[in-house]
Amino acid sequence: MKRIAILISGGGSNMLALARDMAEGAYAQPVLVASNDPTAGGIAKAAALGIPTAAVDHRPFGKDRPAFEAALSEKIDATNPDILCLAGFMRILTPGFIRRYEGRMLNIHPSLLPKYPGLHTHARALAAGDQEAGCTVHEVTADLDAGPILGQARVPVLPGDTDDTLAARVLTQEHRLYPAVLRRFATGDRTPVLLP
Ligand code: GRF
Repeated sequence: MKRIAILISGGGSNMLALARDMAEGAYAQPVLVASNDPTAGGIAKAAALGIPTAAVDHRPFGKDRPAFEAALSEKIDATNPDILCLAGFMRILTPGFIRRYEGRMLNIHPSLLPKYPGLHTHARALAAGDQEAGCTVHEVTADLDAGPILGQARVPVLPGDTDDTLAARVLTQEHRLYPAVLRRFATGDRTPVLLP
């Protein structure tokens, strides 16, 4: 059974969706939930599910990203994961870290990549007057939010939408998309999952 490490920075709703799906589908098991923020709400939620957790506060490392990443990698590699899932993980990763896991590290991004890499994706879609928005799961490569796309889910932009109402609509689809992609990726199949 594939061993999955999940990296979070916040509430971990995507982590929970993945953990629930793995429990249901028995195609993989979460072996670690790690965060760069010891106070991340997702850490307590993972612990409550009996999933091993780790937190490496990035702040004491200051600008020394490689030192932070070395400490994080130590925690990750101790659990011997097959696949890493970034789920609301909000730290930029160096090429060195990415090289360690390239080809088996996924991320979920709240836009229809290649549109809107980076932050504030919903505000940018609204400002552009887009009629649809969505989320993307992609392989993580050294180019931020630009790796091979493994899945996308689309939602309509509705009149009167705000960042928050659009984000909530997209988040619901993130929780459908990420597990569907992980199920497929865990079998070695990289065919994109395109949810209606
Ligand atoms: C989500 O919008 C996700 O797309 C982005 O981080 C946000 C929070 O994710 N990467 P979570 O609730 O912590 O999983």
